[in-house]
Amino acid sequence: MRGRKLNDCGLLIISSTGDIGSGCTYYLADKVKALFLCARNSDRLQVQQRRLCNLQVESHVTTSPAEFLPVADIVICAASVASPAFSLRACKTDAVICDAGYPKNIQPTLANMIGESVFFGGMGRVLGGLQCEPDLRQACYGYPLLNIAHGCMLEGVLLALEGRHEVFSQGRGNIKPTRVEEIWQLAQKHSFVLSPFFNQRGLWAKQPNDEEV
Ligand SMILES: NC(=O)c1ccc[n+]([C@@H]2O[C@H](COP(=O)([O-])OP(=O)(O)OC[C@H]3O[C@@H](n4cnc5c(N)ncnc54)[C@H](OP(=O)(O)O)[C@@H]3O)[C@@H](O)[C@H]2O)c1
Repeated sequence: MRGRKLNDCGLLIISSTGDIGSGCTYYLADKVKALFLCARNSDRLQVQQRRLCNLQVESHVTTSPAEFLPVADIVICAASVASPAFSLRACKTDAVICDAGYPKNIQPTLANMIGESVFFGGMGRVLGGLQCEPDLRQACYGYPLLNIAHGCMLEGVLLALEGRHEVFSQGRGNIKPTRVEEIWQLAQKHSFVLSPFFNQRGLWAKQPNDEEV
């Protein structure tokens, strides 16, 4: 949508050592031009940097998100925080920002300011329709389109559809690139797609077939 090529972008991952953050890190490490990693615990960051080095990937690490915001074209926020914790005031005006946290990571006032550059990441959509019993979606999921849910929930649904009653990505470090590709294949088989981009202000762009809530 923005006409960007990953291999020409600097990527900053906030909370790169967490489960979701490290999954994003290892999946995207060799696909971007520059990799910037952030977490509070510098020991875990150094271990991650060494592992990436062993994979021939150069990375830059910091405990302060603001350090690399001015040079990042894409920012992924995947911290476990009780309420929005990050101000992205220092980021590039044309940066694309994925807020994958639940609760959200990015302070909403700023997300409003950035508008259509922030999207809620990690969301999928079931094209064939999604029903829950009891239906708690209106209480929990205030999303602008029908049939949208978190990727972690949809992963379980996909595995159940395949009759695979197993632990797939649960546990630290199990979201590996090969597993991402595997679940993506299953998603395509069952018509689970990426959610259209949206944030608290609504959809980035409405498509003709979008059935709004
Ligand atoms: N969309 C989806 O399908 C989906 C799926 C699973 C999880 N999530 C969401 O993704 C987020 C992360 O989940 P997770 O399972 O990856 O959690 P996790 O494994 O506990 O990792 C959380 C990371 O957050 C970092 N962190 C915590 N507070 C921070 C702060 N104030 N500043 C910077 N870093 C901070 C921690 O590292 P340090 O302590 O070193 O900072 C840790 O590495 C959660 O909000 C979760 O709800 C979304």
